[in-house]
Amino acid sequence: MVKIAIVDKMNQDGIDLLKNYPKFECEIIEDLSKKNLMSKLPAFDGITLRRGKIDAEILEKCKKLKVISRHGVGFDNVDIKFLKKKNIKLLVTATTTSISPAEHIMFMIMNISKGIDFFDKAVRNGEFGSVMHLKHDNFELSNKKVLIIGFGRIGKKLIKRCLGFEMKVYAYDPYVEKKVIDSFGGIKVDDLADGLKKADIISLSVPLTKETKNMLTLDKMKMMKKNAIIINISRGGIVNEKDLNDALNEKIIYGAGLDVFEKEPPDNNNPLLKNKRAVLSPHAATFTQECLSKMSIETAQNIIDFFEDKLNKNAVVKI
Ligand SMILES: NC(=O)c1ccc[n+]([C@@H]2O[C@H](COP(=O)([O-])OP(=O)(O)OC[C@H]3O[C@@H](n4cnc5c(N)ncnc54)[C@H](O)[C@@H]3O)[C@@H](O)[C@H]2O)c1
Repeated sequence: MVKIAIVDKMNQDGIDLLKNYPKFECEIIEDLSKKNLMSKLPAFDGITLRRGKIDAEILEKCKKLKVISRHGVGFDNVDIKFLKKKNIKLLVTATTTSISPAEHIMFMIMNISKGIDFFDKAVRNGEFGSVMHLKHDNFELSNKKVLIIGFGRIGKKLIKRCLGFEMKVYAYDPYVEKKVIDSFGGIKVDDLADGLKKADIISLSVPLTKETKNMLTLDKMKMMKKNAIIINISRGGIVNEKDLNDALNEKIIYGAGLDVFEKEPPDNNNPLLKNKRAVLSPHAATFTQECLSKMSIETAQNIIDFFEDKLNKNAVVKI
């Protein structure tokens, strides 16, 4: 039997697929501490991984391991240098993890531009009439300029939604050709600073790498328009949190939407938790019934396909 560790529970649809697969013997591992992973994982041939960090020290002990199938597309919680050295395959849910995040970005843009939280509170507090006399700076999305940083799977879904709202879309992604961005109705930006100066809305959909860590710091925020909003659903640390909090407080930019944090969960004293100019969600861009079900099935199917030697090449991370 092939032994599969399901590291961190996922939607039952994917678990059922793995458990009903005749060649597999599966175990769900919910204690994600390093100590537990180090003692449990050496017994397995394959791992599905949602949350939980698998570093080189753990991998060193996993002599039987042939494949890790990520529940998601980011893989900053795995030591990829080690995987490469040992020729262990890394798979991601390349086809099911972009619609919900793109919708989540739209939800954050809408929440900020329409002051949804403010209106909701006002109605519940009996301020239905007086709300008209209060200052509110809601704005239309039509004709606003959006800069999508990272024109991959999520970026490509996002542009369609932005164009649907009649926004003008710029994309900054040095690894994507102009003709691809053109074909989606966007405008390629070669220089990040140029894009930041133009945009009303800046949305990041890039992986966390050495190059993207601290991609947006205070100096970059100072280049932005005063009405600019930043949406980060990618990974914490791509937008520097302290600088963002300062930029919001000092009205250097208007607002921010964050689904991801430098430390997750964030500490209670993280000032962004109290910042009214920020809309926050708990790394939940994929938390829809559809996305979680499809991601779990794709995670499971990828590992089945690996052992059946019929893997779709889009699922394999080139490392
Ligand atoms: N919050 C969530 O729940 C959630 C869900 C899905 C994905 N994500 C994150 O979003 C990221 C993007 O997802 P995706 O599926 O679109 O990935 P993707 O790999 O399809 O696209 C990423 C794009 O970023 C570009 N890129 C890389 N480095 C760049 C740089 N320095 N400057 C500009 N562009 C750069 C790449 O060329 C690529 O086109 C993932 O890596 C993951 O970390 C978060």
